[in-house]
Parts: sequence; structure tokens; C-alpha cells
Amino acid sequence: MVNLTLLLCLVLGLCFSCRAEIKPDSNNNALDLDIVHYQPEQVHLAFGENLQEIVVTWSTRSSTNGSTVNFVEHAQSKWSSVSGSWERFIDGGNKSRTQYIHKVTLSALKPETRYEYNCGSDLGWSAIYRFTTPPLGDNWSPSLAIYGDMGNENAQSLARLQRDSQMGMYDAIIHVGDFAYDMDTDDARVGDEFMRQIETVAAYVPYMVCPGNHEEKYNFSNYRARFNMPGNGDSLWYSFNMGPIHFVSFSTEVYYFFNYGMKLLTKQFAWLERDLAEANLPENRAKRPWIITYGHRPMYCSDDKEYDCNGQLETYIRQGLPTLKWFGLEDLFYKHGVDVEFFAHEHFYTRLWPIYDFKVYNGSAEAPYTNPKAPIQIITGSAGCNENREPFSKVLPEWNAFHSNDYGYTRLKAHNATHLYFEQVSDDKDGKIVDSFWVIKDKHGAYM
Ligand SMILES: *[C@@H]1O[C@H](CO)[C@@H](O)[C@H](O)[C@H]1NC(C)=O
Ligand SMILES: *[C@@H]1O[C@H](CO)[C@@H](O)[C@H](O)[C@H]1NC(C)=O
Ligand SMILES: *[C@@H]1O[C@H](CO)[C@@H](O)[C@H](O)[C@H]1NC(C)=O
Ligand SMILES: *[C@@H]1O[C@H](CO)[C@@H](O)[C@H](O)[C@H]1NC(C)=O
Ligand SMILES: *[C@@H]1O[C@H](CO)[C@@H](O)[C@H](O)[C@H]1NC(C)=O
Ligand SMILES: [Fe+2]
Repeated sequence: MVNLTLLLCLVLGLCFSCRAEIKPDSNNNALDLDIVHYQPEQVHLAFGENLQEIVVTWSTRSSTNGSTVNFVEHAQSKWSSVSGSWERFIDGGNKSRTQYIHKVTLSALKPETRYEYNCGSDLGWSAIYRFTTPPLGDNWSPSLAIYGDMGNENAQSLARLQRDSQMGMYDAIIHVGDFAYDMDTDDARVGDEFMRQIETVAAYVPYMVCPGNHEEKYNFSNYRARFNMPGNGDSLWYSFNMGPIHFVSFSTEVYYFFNYGMKLLTKQFAWLERDLAEANLPENRAKRPWIITYGHRPMYCSDDKEYDCNGQLETYIRQGLPTLKWFGLEDLFYKHGVDVEFFAHEHFYTRLWPIYDFKVYNGSAEAPYTNPKAPIQIITGSAGCNENREPFSKVLPEWNAFHSNDYGYTRLKAHNATHLYFEQVSDDKDGKIVDSFWVIKDKHGAYM
């Protein structure tokens, strides 16, 4: 009897000590339990080398030694499996928190087809998600949601974007830099949480990105590890074709963080020159007349507080490096006939009149956006984050066509070779469209 009680105490005691061992660490995050964790999380999609390729990316806390996606055409029964690769990602913070980021490319997908898929390994599988592939060729009308500056806290637009995406409103999402606030915070737990938050958008619709200043820590390593964009590089710059549009994504941060090497700036600029020159060749413009760029920090600001616009109203992005004026993008984009440029960083929405070198170049007084004589710039940095809204300058510049301080995001529908339609969704006003406009062009190419 005594022995039995002793045994019971021993067993109970052991159990208690087991429990004590798997207690969360001081930061109390379930994922940091000292146990293996093979379940996929943070699932998200991107386009591959063309729109018939989809890249699936996800994370596991522990190494699974396997990265597989199973997929099936909707309403069919024959599943296929594709394997990919994984990389260990060690965050640069003090805890060197580790995770495994998996990447699988699905190629030669059928156009206009809904697929269901899950991802993982024999040690653990995700739930089943779905995506729909776009039509083949250049003659269709893509729909996108575009925004920047969405954080983990106060991601006010997220619920609406989740609903839109789940209803199949978009062929792709573009997030114009500044994620999570910040992905590296709290030993990258904030990044993990953010990637889980956007999963209901990004596991269903390709989530295309560019880096912002909030991704800077440890040489943009969280950004580079978590996102797989087209091209062989590390997602800092790339381009892709979507229907009648050639999209160009670039890093404005190479103009600011020289501590990571000046080389990134020169390399990116050379790449931009080549990519735009090619996109602007008459035979390519005949197929894909629209060139649309996106990068995080704007060329023009109507916000007094920005150090890079303050006083002299000048940005490195626009005019190039100080004094030298090398690598300015306004001239480059003008020369190659970029039609529309998206920026973020300022936590508001601004539409500019067609602009070049501080001068407005309307198509005409009645129809400024019909055959405009300079690119059209849009700042859309109001998805919502813990830094809140930003105020406008008291005196608004002449180039300011419309602005709004509401949280929200931009929608783009590229109807065809001549017509683009834009609208600004206000989340504050329950999804109301607070701005909309058409850009109409009969002819695309250099403005000079
Ligand atoms: C993964 O592979 C490594 C090296 O071969 C091995 O040490 C480890 O146990 C494997 N992990 C799993 C979960 O199979
Ligand atoms: C990392 O460690 C250094 C040196 O111990 C300390 O100064 C710093 O505050 C730590 N950083 C964080 C984010 O905890
Ligand atoms: C930062 O990362 C880039 C690759 O994106 C690399 O080319 C560069 O050398 C790195 N800089 C430093 C200082 O490590
Ligand atoms: C451009 O067009 C808008 C709208 O018609 C007008 O308000 C603005 O003054 C025009 N700017 C110039 C410089 O013509
Ligand atoms: C392009 O789209 C616009 C707007 O939907 C439409 O009015 C126009 O007829 C279209 N053009 C062609 C060639 O289909
Ligand atoms: Fe920013």
C-alpha cells in the first residue's frame, strides 16, 4: 500500500515535471514550446516565372525534411504531388529563432482553372486551400487590390480584403512594402503572426510584394526569406506580365540603406534600365501596352513630416542621390513611358495629376488622364498599422488631385489596351468608394 502511494506520487510528480518542461518561454508564444512542430503555417502564394506557375511558400517550426504540395482540379478526383525545397531561416535577433521555410512551384497549370491544394510533408499537412489560374495570353482584364503599410496591429483593411479575396474579386494582390511593423520584432514573432493573419488572403490569391523601410533589419532578411517572387534574385526587384500589363517591382530602400552595400543600388538601376527598355520595345508594347511600377517610398510627398521631402521637397527616388543626381527614377520612368506608378509609405491615399519634374502635364483640362503627357502617380499607404494615420501638409501642392486620410486600399481593373479603371475603397466608410478614375490611352511609349 505504502509502495503503491509512493509509486503514484512518483508518476504524478513525473507528469508535473513533464508539464513544467513544455511551459512556454517568457514571451509566451505557443510556437516556442520546447516541442517539435511540423504543422505548416503562414501559407502564401505568388506567381512564378509566368502566370501558369504558382509558387507556394509556408513555414514549419521544426525541420520536416520534406516540402510537398498536393493539388487537384476542382471537382476532379486525381490529385498530383509536387516536391520543392526548404531553407532554414534564422532570425537575426538575440534568440536566433529558427524556422523552416518551404517553397514548391506548381508549373504548367491549366488556365482559368480552379485548383484545390494542401502543403506539408508526411509529418504534417495544412488544411486545403484553393486558387484560380488566370486566362492565357495578354487579352484579358486583371483585377487587383493594391496597398502598402499594413501591420500586425491595427490592420484595419484586412477583414475587408479577406472577404473580397475569399469572394474571388482579385487575380492578385500587391503589397507595396512595410509589413507587420515589423517582421523582425520580438525575435520575428510579429512577422510570423502577420503571415498567419494574411493567410486567408495570401493562400488564395498571389500576394506580390516589394520591400519597405520597415523590412530593413538584418539586411532585409525576414523579407527575403519569407517571400518568393519571380526571377532568380532575392525578391528585392522583379517584373511580371499580367494580361495587358507589365508590372515592375523595385526597392526604394536601396537609396537609403547604404550600410548593406551601394552595389544593390547600382545593380537595381541597371536592371530597371534593361527591363523597362525591353518592355517599351514597340513589339512588346503592342502585346502589353501598360507599364505599371510599384516601390515603397514616393517621389512626391504632401506630408510635412517626411524627412526625405522636408523643406527642399526633394526625394532620392525622384532625382537620384544628393548632389550627384545619379540613379534618379523620374527621368528613367519618363523616358520609357511608364503609365502608372504606385507608392506607399505615407499613411494615406493621394492621387496626383500627371507629373514630371514638379510640373503637371494633363492630357487636357477636361480629361487630364486621357492621353496624359507624363506618368500618373498614386500613393496608397493606408491599409492600417500601429503608426496610425499621417497628416497632410497645410498647403497642398498643385499636383495633388485628390487625397483621403481614410484607411483602405486601391482596386485596379485593367479593362483592355486603352482603359484602366481605379477606385479607392474606404474601410472607415464601410467599403464606400471615395475616389475613382479612368486612365485612357490610345498610344503608349516615351513621353518625350
Ligand atoms: C532531417 O534530416 C536530418 C539530417 O539527415 C536528421 O538529422 C533529422 O533527424 C531529420 N529530421 C526528420 C524530422 O526527419
Ligand atoms: C540583444 O542583446 C544585446 C546585448 O545583450 C542588448 O543590448 C539588446 O538590447 C538585445 N536586443 C533585444 C531586441 O533584445
Ligand atoms: C545584403 O544582402 C544583399 C542581397 O540581398 C547582398 O548582396 C549584400 O551583400 C548584403 N549586404 C551585407 C552588408 O551583408
Ligand atoms: C489639370 O487638370 C485638373 C482637372 O481638370 C485641373 O484642376 C488642374 O488645374 C489642371 N492642371 C494644369 C496645370 O493644367
Ligand atoms: C476597352 O474598355 C472600355 C471600358 O470597358 C470600353 O469602353 C472599350 O470599348 C474597350 N475597348 C475595346 C477595344 O474593347
Ligand atoms: Fe514606410
